[in-house]
Amino acid sequence: MASAQAATDGDEAHVVCESIHLGFGGRDVFVDLNCEMVAGHVTVLMGTSGTGKSTLLRLIGGLQRPDAGSIRVAGSELSGLAEVGLAEVRTRLGMLFQNGALLDSMTIFDNVALPLREHTKLARDQIAAEVRDRLDAVGLEDVEHLLPGELSGGMLRRAALARAIIESPEVLLCDEPFSGLDPPNVERIEGLLTRLNRERGLTVIVTSHHMASSLRMGHRIILLKDKAAVSGTPRELAMSEDSEIHDFIGADGAAYLKTLSDAEAAS
Ligand SMILES: Nc1ncnc2c1ncn2[C@@H]1O[C@H](COP(=O)(O)OP(=O)(O)OP(=O)(O)O)[C@@H](O)[C@H]1O
Ligand SMILES: [Mg+2]
Repeated sequence: MASAQAATDGDEAHVVCESIHLGFGGRDVFVDLNCEMVAGHVTVLMGTSGTGKSTLLRLIGGLQRPDAGSIRVAGSELSGLAEVGLAEVRTRLGMLFQNGALLDSMTIFDNVALPLREHTKLARDQIAAEVRDRLDAVGLEDVEHLLPGELSGGMLRRAALARAIIESPEVLLCDEPFSGLDPPNVERIEGLLTRLNRERGLTVIVTSHHMASSLRMGHRIILLKDKAAVSGTPRELAMSEDSEIHDFIGADGAAYLKTLSDAEAAS
């Protein structure tokens, strides 16, 4: 899999989080957190458990409000929006949440079609065409009449991904899309997210604990630590002299840098 290109100045930010403060029950999760996600990039959110990766996705999705600070998604300042405005912004976001399950009693087709049936007035055949396009995009064939219980874990994750992109979002938020999957399925989901980003121009924001995969797929990585965010290209983070970052990235960082230098030497 080819590695992502580095970000350059002048890239347009699709999501901007500025001076975010958030705490629960007197315990701070974010203190003056600042980060941005570039349009058309894959950004990977990393950090040890409890650093706030899922919470940051929820903030961006307008499902959680910060105690202070500004979150702009595609130019819309979320703090100024009431529920109706947030709902409008959410139509531009696709969300695949941690353990975000499909509805057990509905076929895969109906699960993927559900957002279109709920939010649009598309005719039946248009909905069918959209559903088939997305199932095709995630490599699922001949499963539309099956129930979720009849699919493997990897297929279920791909079906959930098809549902997350059914309304053609500009930004796809994915919380731990690789969790619980075996290495071939991790690679398959990684390949799919990379392809959706390249071919459909989706801005992808994904949380992951898979270091090697994150270094490969991320144009940028945002590392949550000390209640704030450190951002950089995979190369920058893998070369970081900060001992905490170095330890966090571990052996995968060295392997990634070796792959880059081998590729440069061969070209
Ligand atoms: N609604 C909530 N009420 C109280 N505490 C919360 C709430 N949401 C998140 N937290 C706390 O905020 C912190 C960050 O949680 P979060 O789930 O975002 O971490 P994470 O980085 O996604 O962890 P993991 O890698 O385990 O998924 C945790 O300490 C969690 O307990
Ligand atoms: Mg989480």
